[in-house]
Amino acid sequence: MTLILGLESSCDETAAALVTGDRRILAHKLAGQEAAHRPYGGVVPEIAARAHVEILMPLVEAALAEAQVTLDDVDAIAATAGPGLIGGVMVGLVTGKALALAANKPLVAVNHLEGHALSPRLADPDLEFPYMLLLVSGGHCQLLRVEGVGQYRRLATTIDDAAGEAFDKTAKLLGLGFPGGPAVEAAARLGDPKAVKLPRPLAGTTEPHFSFAGLKSAVLRARDAGTHSAEDIAASFQQAVVDCLVDRTRRQLADADELTALVVAGGVAANTAVRGSLQALAAEHGLPFVAPPLWLCTDNAAMIGWAGAERFAAGLTDGLDVAARPRWPLDPMAETVRGAGVKA
Ligand code: KG4
Ligand code: ZN
Repeated sequence: MTLILGLESSCDETAAALVTGDRRILAHKLAGQEAAHRPYGGVVPEIAARAHVEILMPLVEAALAEAQVTLDDVDAIAATAGPGLIGGVMVGLVTGKALALAANKPLVAVNHLEGHALSPRLADPDLEFPYMLLLVSGGHCQLLRVEGVGQYRRLATTIDDAAGEAFDKTAKLLGLGFPGGPAVEAAARLGDPKAVKLPRPLAGTTEPHFSFAGLKSAVLRARDAGTHSAEDIAASFQQAVVDCLVDRTRRQLADADELTALVVAGGVAANTAVRGSLQALAAEHGLPFVAPPLWLCTDNAAMIGWAGAERFAAGLTDGLDVAARPRWPLDPMAETVRGAGVKA
């Protein structure tokens, strides 16, 4: 059975994992950098890159030791090659290249978004193509039709902030701490989702995209009005995001061709309210609902190893001259969408 070493370093998580082609995760090691970035209330790219340099190789060694294998046993090395904070991406990709060269193994340059997009297939062996994927992370908010390994059709994206970014900014505005998503979710659990009237940007419109910038401004106004608790604002904000995600996804499901499932992936998919509402939406359409376990939703190397395994099985390996890419859309045909005035 193929054995893939996966490396992830595109944001503030350093990770290494050993994954097999038949979905066994022999080891997955992850080191977050929250403490290093917390004083700044967000991820500082240079601090992240330096931390990846220090942590990545010890994690690789720990993963190999836990799985009781050596580099000789590995069939390929899969490293995130973008998109992400370029300093960190370069650390992981160069490490992957060095290991591939030293051990004489093929390299698989993985798109981090493909890692998220295929992670549900690592968790669920029955998940076949094509599926509708809501990819919601700190940097992205997209609806994609996943037709196969390397075959993605982007149906919608955000015209301003990503969903996770909206959670992070709301956490900052409400003084809930960093990282923002889990902090907002915890506060929301203590609040009333109907307490504050907040907008649902673009919901109900015929155009396909997402928008969260107006919601963030509304949170700021609600905070400054001083009439509601942070918990009530957090709960109302989370409900507004959920409503937007569900509305935009429902719009796509209405005119989608044959699908095997509705799937959610990315860091925001760790949110219980998001998962619950999407599950109900899938049921409404008679579709199975697939979401990876929480630890596989947020950044990790198992999903990179798995995407590497899928690409390796399809004969897709890369030369050692492959470049790190700060931007790397999953669907190269999709038009760039930005700001107000976007046409459907
Ligand atoms: O996929 P991910 O780990 O990194 C990126 O590729 O961006 O996603 C991180 C994002 C952050 O914005 C974080 O606040 C959000 O996912 N997130 C959550 C939750 N856990 C993580 N958002 C809402 N609720 C959560 N429980
Ligand atoms: Zn991610």
